[in-house]
Amino acid sequence: MGAVSTERLFVALVLPERVRRAARQWCRATRVGERGWREVSEQNLHLTLRFLGESPADLADSLGRELEQALAGLQAPRLVLDGWGSFGSPARPRVIWIGVGGEIDRLQRLAARVETCVRRRGLPPETRPLRAHLTVARPRRGERQSLPPAGCPAPAAETFAAAQVALFASQLRPGGPIYTRRHGIRLEVVDDQ
Ligand code: 2AM
Repeated sequence: MGAVSTERLFVALVLPERVRRAARQWCRATRVGERGWREVSEQNLHLTLRFLGESPADLADSLGRELEQALAGLQAPRLVLDGWGSFGSPARPRVIWIGVGGEIDRLQRLAARVETCVRRRGLPPETRPLRAHLTVARPRRGERQSLPPAGCPAPAAETFAAAQVALFASQLRPGGPIYTRRHGIRLEVVDDQ
């Protein structure tokens, strides 16, 4: 029997360029790269809704179609960059993130629909609650990490309508992951300004 081919999948919100730029700008301003961290490249910044992990190679197409049906026409959450923090212990942080505020209820409903689609494809449920964040830096191997000082400036409070959901495949590479968009879904942007 041949090996079953798999790919590493996740569903995420695509972020507008100016939002990704603001996130990178904060990393530069706080000199995250000099504190033992590898910064996430501007093109790779995203907000994960659901991590699927290694999945059968034929899942992306069927899940993509399912997501399209379940999400198309939903209203895009209006979000805002809101502060920063880290996951892991203070002594051993494993991620630096920028937080997200605004229409979090709408974001949660969107994530719940994604979860329904994922389960319909027969995958195990996600049991951890969604903690909406943009990962901006991960530890650089062999180096000791320190966090920016608590009193450092916050990221610019960029607001945006999160109008695009995408199903990504991720290939892990020594220089950082390569993300390929397998499927994109547009949400409705209601202009109430
Ligand atoms: P992170 O941003 O908090 O690191 C692709 O790996 C995306 O899926 C990343 O944004 C990552 O979240 C998210 N993810 C969630 N759970 C994961 C896991 N167990 N392993 C790898 N990535 C995970």
